[in-house]
Amino acid sequence: MSFEAAKARLEAAGQTHVLQFWEELSAEERGTFLEEISQLQPDELVKHCREAAASASRESSADGRLDERMQPVPSEFIGSVRKSDRETLQKWENEGLLQISQDRVAVLLLAGGQGTRLGVSYPKGMYNVGLPSGKTLYQMQAERIQKVQELANVRHGCRCTVPWYIMTSEFTLGPTEKFFKDNKYFGLCPSNVVMFEQRMIPAVGFDGKIILEKKNKIAMAPDGNGGLYRSLVDNKILADMEGKGVEYLHVYCVDNILVKMADPVFIGFCVNKEADCGAKVVDKAYPAEPVGVVCRVDNVYQVIEYSEIQPETAELRGPGGELLFSAGNICNHFFTRSFLKDVAEKFESKLKQHVAIKKVPFVDGEGNLVKPSKPNGIKMEKFVFDVFQFSKKFVAFEVLREEEFSPLKNADGAPLDTPTTARRSLLAQHYRWILAAGGSFMDEHNKPIAPKHSTAQNEDPPAICEISPLVSYFGEGLEKLLNQKNLKSPFILDENEAKNLVQTA
Ligand code: UD1
Repeated sequence: MSFEAAKARLEAAGQTHVLQFWEELSAEERGTFLEEISQLQPDELVKHCREAAASASRESSADGRLDERMQPVPSEFIGSVRKSDRETLQKWENEGLLQISQDRVAVLLLAGGQGTRLGVSYPKGMYNVGLPSGKTLYQMQAERIQKVQELANVRHGCRCTVPWYIMTSEFTLGPTEKFFKDNKYFGLCPSNVVMFEQRMIPAVGFDGKIILEKKNKIAMAPDGNGGLYRSLVDNKILADMEGKGVEYLHVYCVDNILVKMADPVFIGFCVNKEADCGAKVVDKAYPAEPVGVVCRVDNVYQVIEYSEIQPETAELRGPGGELLFSAGNICNHFFTRSFLKDVAEKFESKLKQHVAIKKVPFVDGEGNLVKPSKPNGIKMEKFVFDVFQFSKKFVAFEVLREEEFSPLKNADGAPLDTPTTARRSLLAQHYRWILAAGGSFMDEHNKPIAPKHSTAQNEDPPAICEISPLVSYFGEGLEKLLNQKNLKSPFILDENEAKNLVQTA
């Protein structure tokens, strides 16, 4: 793009201040800047800046009105692991494994976020929470994919594939690609790992003007995890899915250490109910827990995000003292490919823009970098769950928190959702699995460790054990390896150890 074209585009949008330092820029800086400006769509730019400023000013009043229209999802409309008998769960799992065995299921990771709260400069999936094995979130996810494929293969005598689609952003694509290459895709076939990039949009000041973060750089941010729907089209991902025969998607967020990749029970449940769209939920732990709530607004399913619900509404309780809005969204969604196609083609432009008021570093009129002490900018985001309203058959599925939800959001030192709490949740789960399989533990002096069937969130399990997802996906298959075995803590059950155990059995 030429300077003249860039200037004309910015003029039309009332944003010529973006070029105020042009004379000071080197040839190279000018080149990268023009490239950035060329990616701003002219019509959208005008609309975006106008809407950002307008929505920021009416934000709080709108939320109050929404709360008044919220209704909880009646419990009979929520499928539930806790309330279902073994036979029913088995039926859903069988259905899920059947679909997986026929190559009809893929997983899609939302990994374009910046992980600001965790405070690391690299993508969250590369984080190592300090497990004995040193595995990162990405490695565990990759291994769970391998294992679920194997479970379907063994059950149905096939060689199936669960493709892994990974939505990244300008911040996360490069390092994520490098990490996967350096780690040989954790044993997965690279052609089944498809990375693509979501769009970035400018941060805007309260006056509707684009914020400059450098003399030659606009402050840009990813367009929210609801940017998924545009990026599926931008990057021809729906066509890729169709080419691979994928019909069902498990969409999830990167930071939940307990995520069950392509969970056969969830997939089976949704397929069985003929749903086009579904969400896993857990019972909210406390009113202010930072999770969205699945509810209905004017009889339409919706998630009201934790940042947008009024505290009084979150506190409301039913007759038995239980939270009225208790269906906590864990960002694990089910979509049929045809629903995603409908959304991308017909509804994407109708998705709500959510407004986040943030402190955005900027250059002042003299070109000095300023780190503001109070919020100065507006970031607009779309949310992945805002498509529920377009679903013809939506289902919610309640799962057990201790088995399926322990997100990594904050750095250690915070009370919740830290590397320590994530590590503990996983170790406690594996400890429970081993007890259930008939194993027991001894310490380094060979003294028995008394079993403990539940541990609090802020304590380590009495024995440390970690099970590789390559050995067991959800605790299955451990009894034949560990029944009546006395194991020394810390115990790592990887594939080699599993072979040893088979040989010594
Ligand atoms: C999210 C959910 C919230 C849920 C909680 C559970 C959304 C909008 N909110 O909140 O309802 O209760 O998880 O842990 O889904 N991401 C992108 N692109 C972006 C922004 C985010 O891909 O532009 C990805 C992140 O990398 C992450 C996921 O979306 O994997 C969720 O983003 P995050 O900001 O962590 O959401 P929360 O606020 O924790």
